[in-house]
Amino acid sequence: MSVSRVSQILFSRVSYAARKPQQFAAPVFRYYSYQTGNYEFLKLETAGEKKNVGIVTLNRPKVLNALCDQLMNEIIRALKHFNSDSSIAAIVLTGSEKAFAAGADIKEMKDNSYASNLKLNFIADWNVVAKSRKPIIAAVNGYALGGGNELAMMCDIIYAGDKAKFSQPEIAIGTIPGAGGTQRLTRVIGKSKAMEMILTGNMISAEEAEKSGLVSKVFPADKVVEEAVKLGEKIASHSQLIVAIAKEAVNAAYETTLQQGLLFEKRLFHSTFSLADRKEGMAAFLEKRSPRYTNQ
Ligand code: CAA
Repeated sequence: MSVSRVSQILFSRVSYAARKPQQFAAPVFRYYSYQTGNYEFLKLETAGEKKNVGIVTLNRPKVLNALCDQLMNEIIRALKHFNSDSSIAAIVLTGSEKAFAAGADIKEMKDNSYASNLKLNFIADWNVVAKSRKPIIAAVNGYALGGGNELAMMCDIIYAGDKAKFSQPEIAIGTIPGAGGTQRLTRVIGKSKAMEMILTGNMISAEEAEKSGLVSKVFPADKVVEEAVKLGEKIASHSQLIVAIAKEAVNAAYETTLQQGLLFEKRLFHSTFSLADRKEGMAAFLEKRSPRYTNQ
């Protein structure tokens, strides 16, 4: 079953309660526009010259964007919304200057039992974020701790502000990462660094995160969302279909052996030749003009 089919199924399982619309401050950047929606802990905007980048901003400031059940359900719903909007080609997920997210909500989960976790399959739904068909760029300022770091790692690319801090501090509260920290972090930065972070709970700086490959670029804190939007616009200048195929191929590198991965890549590469956008891309190159993609 393809990744996109899996995400359709996962997205279709997400339910949510209707909530009162919230008012947010006017957007500060050019080309930004606020989207209405019944979100208590999120702000949704579209950005970019062509309004083709969706921005999801976590907005639960009193607890540093701690990821309670409702906030995660709202994130999943917002991603579903942008995934089904054909005018949106890339998504930016961000938080506040102080915190991207300080982890799962400790207050909410403190009385959980093993049985209740099993019954609810606690936090299993979070993985829906990693199944988004459209690319997601995490624009991280401040704390990305525990589930916050795991949420960032479910995105496709991480940009960080220069004061961002990353950690898996679960060990300090008597538990371990539960939303991919032991698996994704280890694949991304290697065993020794991941082990050190997970066994100590120590934070690493944006600079260290960039050096270790967790983050692809670091910017001044007030520029990181703007830069993430620019990156989203660049991605949006390509065919959405080809972008989705490329994303699926890169993600397969985490799931397969090299030989299986290479075969999968080859077949996907072959499949691009069935698309009008592949034809248009090559024709535009040879005719020395910009391509006009139709997502066909
Ligand atoms: N859950 C619930 N509430 C949280 C929270 C969390 N993860 N992180 C912060 N808060 C709350 C604090 O309780 C505090 O609330 P009150 O004002 O009501 O006391 C408020 O946010 C502000 O926090 P601090 O006063 O602690 O702010 P600070 O600037 O002194 O410290 C911090 C900031 C270093 C991020 C600190 O808050 C902290 O260590 N937070 C917890 C981080 C953590 O352990 N995260 C992992 C959670 S477990 C997890 O994520 C499991 C998983 O894999 C999914």
